[in-house]
Amino acid sequence: MSDPTGILVLGATGYIGGSILTELIDRNAEDRYVLSALVRKPYQASILADAGVNPLIFKDLDDFDVIRKAAKDHDIVIAAASARHNDCARACILGLGDRAKSSGKETHYVHISGTSNLGDWPVTGERIDTKIHSDVDDDIFEIEKNFPDSHSPVRDVDLAVVDAGEKEGVKTYIVPPPLIFGRGTGSFTLGVGQVHMMTQLALKKKQPVMLGTGSGIWNRVHILDLTDLFTLLVRAILDGKPLPTGKTGYYFVENGFQTWRSISQGIGKAGKELGAFDTEEVGEVTMQEAADEFYNGSLRHAEGVLASNSRTKADKARQILGWQPKYGEQTFLEEVEEVVAAMIEEQA
Ligand SMILES: NC(=O)c1ccc[n+]([C@@H]2O[C@H](COP(=O)([O-])OP(=O)(O)OC[C@H]3O[C@@H](n4cnc5c(N)ncnc54)[C@H](OP(=O)(O)O)[C@@H]3O)[C@@H](O)[C@H]2O)c1
Repeated sequence: MSDPTGILVLGATGYIGGSILTELIDRNAEDRYVLSALVRKPYQASILADAGVNPLIFKDLDDFDVIRKAAKDHDIVIAAASARHNDCARACILGLGDRAKSSGKETHYVHISGTSNLGDWPVTGERIDTKIHSDVDDDIFEIEKNFPDSHSPVRDVDLAVVDAGEKEGVKTYIVPPPLIFGRGTGSFTLGVGQVHMMTQLALKKKQPVMLGTGSGIWNRVHILDLTDLFTLLVRAILDGKPLPTGKTGYYFVENGFQTWRSISQGIGKAGKELGAFDTEEVGEVTMQEAADEFYNGSLRHAEGVLASNSRTKADKARQILGWQPKYGEQTFLEEVEEVVAAMIEEQA
């Protein structure tokens, strides 16, 4: 029997990475792979070791040589710590490239991105893009490449990942999630997302709020459907299935969509019922207020993440990986109520 494949996870103590790790642990009945995780703290290492994961300590995402060496010791790296950290992605790909060259084996880099990258800027009106982007019918790499350099750091890292993968002979896969909802299943955090952010703004203003008209549309995905996609991708890699990689290796992940206004309406209804607001009527929050609350004053960021249109279709996951998401609108609406209730209680 051949040696089990080595999989290294970055971000294993986070919402996404922690949930992916749990799923990979649970679905390894045949011991097809061994799991490692790069973490910062000894207590994190100890908890993961108890779960059967080989913990590796690093300083942080800037610890280039340690990350490169760790990647070199594995066949697959799942980088779920940051969509924006170029050097971390580069260190992983260089390490996997070293391994590919020395072993002659294929190595694989799976990168977390985010669909805020495709988001338009409808409040300022500087860029409107309501198109639904398919990862099969549209050339997402080319779309990203044609954005100006100032567009977004997520875009820059996506392009750098594809470029480094091609140069180093590493197969790259980019997974850009939209709005994620649902409780994480990792050992360290349940996770927070845009519903929490909109609720935080509403609780501060004592009224549900939206940026601009709230008419921007985003896709959504439940964390368990997201982790399912990651495990299907890993399984397809292990099975040696021919998969699109590099420039064509974008894998969207979504199950439905909603407007920002409808999220705020859900927050308003729940908050009014629970006595946190006097009215369900959705008011406005300025871009500056949202930017100051979450993004050190970056208006562009607030607009892209909390007001934009960002529409994708996960055609590749459905067609090639056989991905069948389970959680849709009903679960999402329930989640909004739960988040509002939990955040009101925290505030009390
Ligand atoms: N959550 C969403 O809705 C969503 C949607 C699309 C894309 N994304 C992107 O996906 C990425 C992960 O998101 P998440 O929600 O899982 O975040 P998260 O819960 O905050 O987890 C981040 C993970 O990365 C690690 N990390 C962060 N900065 C680090 C540093 N400087 N050095 C070492 N480790 C570091 C954290 O380790 P520690 O525990 O040691 O801090 C943790 O394991 C982010 O880039 C985010 O923009 C998120």
